Amino acid sequence: MNALQALEPASHSPDTILYLDGVTVSFDGFKALDNLSFYVLAGELRAIIGPNGAGKTTMMDVVTGKTRPERGQVLFNGGTDLTRLDEARIANLGIGRKFQKPTVFEHHTVFDNLELALAGGRDVFASLLFKLAGAQKDRIDEVLEIIALAEARNMAAGALSHGQKQWLEIGMLLMQEPDLLLVDEPAAGMTDAETEQTAALLKRIAGDHSVVVVEHDMEFVRALESRVTVLHEGRVLAEGSLDKVQNDETVIEVYLGR
Ligand SMILES: Nc1ncnc2c1ncn2[C@@H]1O[C@H](COP(=O)(O)OP(=O)(O)O)[C@@H](O)[C@H]1O
Ligand SMILES: [Mg+2]
Repeated sequence: MNALQALEPASHSPDTILYLDGVTVSFDGFKALDNLSFYVLAGELRAIIGPNGAGKTTMMDVVTGKTRPERGQVLFNGGTDLTRLDEARIANLGIGRKFQKPTVFEHHTVFDNLELALAGGRDVFASLLFKLAGAQKDRIDEVLEIIALAEARNMAAGALSHGQKQWLEIGMLLMQEPDLLLVDEPAAGMTDAETEQTAALLKRIAGDHSVVVVEHDMEFVRALESRVTVLHEGRVLAEGSLDKVQNDETVIEVYLGR
């Protein structure tokens, strides 16, 4: 293997969890994604940045099956083409998505929210009557600790701060043990302290899970210490460490310099 190959592992290697290959999405002739290709390694934490309208949310919509591309493939975990599957099937394959607005059950406790997530949150009352196995209780305790809400376990979710609700929702996704977690702008509306803690939380869950996070807050992206992909006009403009992409002339021109 030559040096260049070592830097660019094969996109179909067993270590690749997600491989977008030539994905194009058009809305009324406008290309929101334009032959977009990139890949994410298993256990990797990846930040996606780029100006408004760059296609970041559309990219997540394609991965989760919400939007079907007109061209291209989205290969998951060594070969399943997600563009052929519906949203429910994709979620069941182990892909969790966190939207900007938290959707926790406000009137239930933090603990119960995590318990409900085990059952997929489909039938609130049936799942609360369901008796937890010891291993499931242990998993809830573990997740409570990861999301820094162990002490708030018996609080109503509605009483949590905005940031804590976001963590609870990430915790609810973790209960499903996803292989890949997609997180869209988690730091929006958070205090500086919450933003910092969110970065630490995502760093902690990467490794066990692959995490793709879209974010505008550069302090937050720096704190992730991850590889960064810059999207622009539906394509990858640059990729590498935050320092590398921040010093990239084209990136400065179209995004950071404005
Ligand atoms: N459902 C839709 N219908 C029409 N245009 C859309 C739709 N969704 C997104 N777009 C357009 O596609 C482009 C990319 O949007 P989006 O993926 O939301 O960008 P980002 O998340 O990077 O800000 C934008 O120009 C947006 O207006
Ligand atoms: Mg967006």
